[in-house]
Amino acid sequence: MLPVVTVKGYPVLVFEKDGKKYYWLAGCPHKKRPLNEGKVIEDKIECPFHHAVFDLITGRLVREPQSKTPCTDCRLIRVKFDEKTGDAEFEGQPFIPELPGSKV
Ligand code: FES
Repeated sequence: MLPVVTVKGYPVLVFEKDGKKYYWLAGCPHKKRPLNEGKVIEDKIECPFHHAVFDLITGRLVREPQSKTPCTDCRLIRVKFDEKTGDAEFEGQPFIPELPGSKV
């Protein structure tokens, strides 16, 4: 599991590779479910719900979800986050991930 920080009220995954950190909204763009328990395989993350796989360097979809519902605009939301100042910018509309049937 990747570490998660809260940025502007949203959960954000922190992935580190070769001394560089990548920040991604911790929500799957397919059905807005939590990605923080996704399985990390090298520099990819697999969503635990329909098993879509995303690249943690580019945010792009690597494997389609196993679901009848297509994933439109399917890429992770990058967060430009400065840990020192706390400044953050979301490259996309952030959302609070939800489990099925819950309104957390
Ligand atoms: S919610 Fe992530 S693949 Fe469907």
